[in-house]
Amino acid sequence: MPRSNALFISLEGIDGSGKSTQARRLADWLTAQGRDAVLTREPGGAPGAEEIRHLLVQGDPERWSPETEILLFTAARRDHLERTIRPALEAGRDVVTDRFADSTRVYQGATRGDLRALVDTIHSAAIATEPDLTLILDMDPEIALTRGLARNSGEDRFEDFGLPFQQKLRAGFQALAAEQPHRCHLIDADTTPDAITQAIIARVTRHLR
Ligand code: TYD
Repeated sequence: MPRSNALFISLEGIDGSGKSTQARRLADWLTAQGRDAVLTREPGGAPGAEEIRHLLVQGDPERWSPETEILLFTAARRDHLERTIRPALEAGRDVVTDRFADSTRVYQGATRGDLRALVDTIHSAAIATEPDLTLILDMDPEIALTRGLARNSGEDRFEDFGLPFQQKLRAGFQALAAEQPHRCHLIDADTTPDAITQAIIARVTRHLR
């Protein structure tokens, strides 16, 4: 019998905020609690969505307009939802995703003109799903950017927008946490990885059913 108490959790934050490490640790912790957790990520998380990812994270920063980006990220998200997230939740598995719709709200909706209304319209039409819990890793963009670029992953299209862009992103995520306090929680990420993990686990524990 699938568990009906499966949790859908997203991790969000600016580039280089350490989300990927924390998402992995959270999924491992949930599994260690005897739950069955799927770790996934956006853009990507399903074969078709990973193909769309390549179009989005590589190449010239000006390659896509913000409007086109919203559509591409949403196409990838729809595939991710259909192929990975929904089947896992229906099977009673927890889902931990490294980014979800809040990234589009902030990266596309609040940085290069005010496109939040367009993001919300497309989200309601095509996705209409929110995580049970969203943990936003909040940290100094200057430190985060150094980390992100140091990885030199070839997927630096968004890092290449520079520091003022990352500062706008941080403010955008903080505003989102204030707007949706029941779902979104800021986690202080200007500290050690272990302290961040502890803060995340403390928050998730309050939501376990
Ligand atoms: P990600 O793989 O999480 O990069 P990182 O590990 O560096 O944080 O995401 C790739 C980039 O895509 C990242 O710069 C954020 C951006 N992005 C958006 O602009 N909108 C979105 O909806 C998503 C999911 C990601």
